[in-house]
Amino acid sequence: MSKFYTPTEPMEFLAPFGPTMGYFRLPAQTIDDLNGCLNDKLEDYSDNLVGKVTEELKFDEKAQAIALSAVSNFVFKFHSFSKSQNSFGAQKTDLETNDYTLEYISGWFVRQFEGEYNPLHIHPNCKLSCVGYLALPEGIEAEWEADDKDHHPSHGHIHFSSGTPAPYSSTNFLVKPQVGDFYIFPSQLFHCVYPFYTKGERRSFSMNLNFLETPKVAD
Ligand SMILES: [Fe+2]
Repeated sequence: MSKFYTPTEPMEFLAPFGPTMGYFRLPAQTIDDLNGCLNDKLEDYSDNLVGKVTEELKFDEKAQAIALSAVSNFVFKFHSFSKSQNSFGAQKTDLETNDYTLEYISGWFVRQFEGEYNPLHIHPNCKLSCVGYLALPEGIEAEWEADDKDHHPSHGHIHFSSGTPAPYSSTNFLVKPQVGDFYIFPSQLFHCVYPFYTKGERRSFSMNLNFLETPKVAD
């Protein structure tokens, strides 16, 4: 149940609407371990995805286990933050009264090379999606330096979008990938990835997830 807003300071600035997102820095070992999972036995997953990229490969059990063990605790914290944020603090996660389970729906690697892109899309059939960055083309910093001089840099960036433009509201969020950066977001949040032109691979992974919260059953 939502609670009404009650100011606690003489002056406050508010952003009470819109989707929540979370950022987490992946451990270096996780990046190495996930990169080590790429092999030619992984299934092609591109028929399920919209990317105009060289390869989209389905996680095997090992990649799934590595990614989930690295981010599960963070996803729980994100879920807790969102629940409180979206109810003005009225709703909290509570390990005493509820069980929490992270449900894995799917996971995959995205291997994007120069000139390739990922059109605007959402991830249906789940509540949470995420992206983590595993590799970038050597030399892309020089491309970014040149692109940053433009009024709207975007080469190889991921762009999230929500809502309709209006005064004093934000409808888009542009992110420049860095190896090890991990973002979680509601799966219905529109996003796309722009092309870059430096030779080499921009490698990321994504997962579709649900966070299940069920009341504990008394013995
Ligand atoms: Fe996506």
